[in-house]
Amino acid sequence: MKNVYGVKGNIIYTKEFGKYEVISKGIIIIENGIIKGIYNGLPFHYKDIKVIDYKDKLIIPGFVDLHLHAPQFPNMGLGLDKELIPWLNKYTFPEEEKYYDLQYAEKVYKKLINKIWSVGTTRCCIFNTIHKDSTKLLLDLFNKSGLGAYIGKVNMDRECPDELKEETNTSILDTLEIVNEYKDKYKLVKPIITPRFVPTCSFDLLKSLGEIANKYDIPVQSHLCENYGEIELVKSLHPECKNYAEVYNKSNLLKDNKCIMAHCVLVNESEIDLLKKKRTFIAHCPTSNLNLSSGIAPIRRVIERKVNVGLASDISGGHTLSIPEVIASSAQVSNLKWLNSNKVEEKLTTAELFYLATKGGGKFFGKVGSFEEGYDFDALVIDDSDLLIENNLSLEERLQKFIYIGSSNNIVERYVCGNIIKEPNI
Ligand code: GUN
Ligand code: FE
Repeated sequence: MKNVYGVKGNIIYTKEFGKYEVISKGIIIIENGIIKGIYNGLPFHYKDIKVIDYKDKLIIPGFVDLHLHAPQFPNMGLGLDKELIPWLNKYTFPEEEKYYDLQYAEKVYKKLINKIWSVGTTRCCIFNTIHKDSTKLLLDLFNKSGLGAYIGKVNMDRECPDELKEETNTSILDTLEIVNEYKDKYKLVKPIITPRFVPTCSFDLLKSLGEIANKYDIPVQSHLCENYGEIELVKSLHPECKNYAEVYNKSNLLKDNKCIMAHCVLVNESEIDLLKKKRTFIAHCPTSNLNLSSGIAPIRRVIERKVNVGLASDISGGHTLSIPEVIASSAQVSNLKWLNSNKVEEKLTTAELFYLATKGGGKFFGKVGSFEEGYDFDALVIDDSDLLIENNLSLEERLQKFIYIGSSNNIVERYVCGNIIKEPNI
């Protein structure tokens, strides 16, 4: 049986990079969770369907967070005066060691999922720890929330504390077990192959993970070119590869259109070419890159080269799960990049960043992040009345205000695949 209904309100989304589509008091028709069309009035053949009228509120696509670390949630805000490697050693690895304990893990994950829901993120890509059982727990808890996610067990077999160092073979077998058990278990929550980054994974491990990703058609996520020290370490570990990205490529991990590389702050031209050829997604994490003194990713440049880009919180390198806050941070670093380039590399506009926060990252999940026909209806309803002194702003300006000065309190409804998602409280 078909489930058809409409939602009415001030609709705003981006079909193309940097160009808002705005329909004041429009109606989105949804059939079995998929968008059928947007209309100014209700078409005759839909005259009997239920229409939920959100009046003067904004209706926008749900936010997509392409990269975050679930076990680092308790560490948010800690140690951000350090650079990447000292921060990993002093704060991150000690916290990640705790996740063999399922009771502790459950407590953290429940709070995390509630927070992800509250900030209006409807889809995300998550790193867990090396622990198989806590990864399964996170997959199961996430499924209960109704939100969409790719969740990966992290792989590490070198250059990390003994407590987190896996036997290569155990790392592969545990990954295979999760892939087999979860690849078809849930509709919206799926496993993803997650080598932490080159320094902590032997070539043998990387190659085996590449085989699993290709044999079972599972996507891949990792980190690339975040920090100078990290890149030097990769050079010393892999003198046989011409650059960092090539190590992943030689392991067949840059799976076509199905791979996310976080950061890419320091990628060179030949790496950008490779990412473009493999249709890799870059997860742009400006809050993390500022906190850990990593630098400013060349986002305008990679987009001009037609590389896929989405935005990401990267907690706890990043200090916020809010994608609107990540948009503001992206704009600020882009402004500095523009100044540093003698005003040659153009700044990113709010409309361009809104696209990256919705359809840009959403593409990784399929038809997600836009209100075009055939897209999953993932949406947020925004009551911005407390942000307006007088209601004399355009809808684009109201969206800008929500992004910069709004909060979770302004989000009054969340939809994923056409279903209303209430606060998980799992
Ligand atoms: N590179 C390898 N591991 C990590 C991590 O946990 N966070 C960040 N920001 N970069 C990494
Ligand atoms: Fe990260």
